[in-house]
Amino acid sequence: MSESFLPVRLKTLKADLSLGFQLYLQLPHKMILYAVEDSILEQSRMDALKSKKVRKLYIKDSDEKKYQEFIDKSLSHVMEDANASIEDKANVVGESSESSAEQIFEKPAEKGSYLTAQSTSQNLIKYLSANDKLLKGIFSRKLSEEDTSSDTLMHKHAVNSASLIIGFAEFMQVDKSLVEIMGMTGLFHDIAFTLYDQQYKQTFFKRLEDLSANELTKYKEHPRLGVELLQDKDYASKELIDYILNHEERLGGNGFPSKVQKLSKEQAIINLCIHYDRYLTCLGMSMSEVFEDINLNQIGNFDLELIKKFKEFLKSNELNEN
Ligand SMILES: [Fe+2]
Ligand SMILES: [Fe+2]
Repeated sequence: MSESFLPVRLKTLKADLSLGFQLYLQLPHKMILYAVEDSILEQSRMDALKSKKVRKLYIKDSDEKKYQEFIDKSLSHVMEDANASIEDKANVVGESSESSAEQIFEKPAEKGSYLTAQSTSQNLIKYLSANDKLLKGIFSRKLSEEDTSSDTLMHKHAVNSASLIIGFAEFMQVDKSLVEIMGMTGLFHDIAFTLYDQQYKQTFFKRLEDLSANELTKYKEHPRLGVELLQDKDYASKELIDYILNHEERLGGNGFPSKVQKLSKEQAIINLCIHYDRYLTCLGMSMSEVFEDINLNQIGNFDLELIKKFKEFLKSNELNEN
């Protein structure tokens, strides 16, 4: 059986730390070994790759856990470095989380992706609570110009949603034991995106009002299709599956797929954060436009008190300007 590989972003590989896994370069028809397990990549080698416009390297599937350990190690290096700026910190946290999102979207039903989502959520919880300006930093990161593909936007949406959910859940004093799964919901909620062909992928970047009847029907299937990827897996938490299934539900039965009337506090937090970031990241609206739309077109869909709290939360994180 041939070995399968996982992409890892060059930007997530910190120089001068021992790797612990083999690193491969992709050539048109094969993978070649680029660095052996105990390599320490010097900055000059990383710069050389960057200058050749290499964005991604590959690891063996079986090394996924070792790669995650390496990421944890390099994250804590930067996060504990008193000289690192908040931009540096937001960049490493953002890059490594987006790299996780990429893996989750590429192989949504695999246990390795589930474990990656778990540790990504744990890291976000840990670092967001210890760094006041980190959330703002994550949202201020620009997409690199060469990569504004719909896939990349979805990864960014997944990470932004997870970060917002975690931050807002803590602001709302949600029971700590639930926050990790809530963060994972941010990463997983739209995994069905990967099952759609190019035409229907575009539905994720349009307002519901602008979709044709056909597109709308297809789009409304995504929570259920997402759940189908996970529901028979013994490692997948029941709460996560429930949160994913209900992430497009709205108060008063205005959402989909089941038009549920009432949402738990946790589900309402998740759904508001996801809605907000869809308009911001996927539809490209500004914060004030998103709230204007909520006031005009989403009346009754979200609890007014929760919206008020959400605005307070955004303001306290200096996320009220953009
Ligand atoms: Fe979404
Ligand atoms: Fe969605």
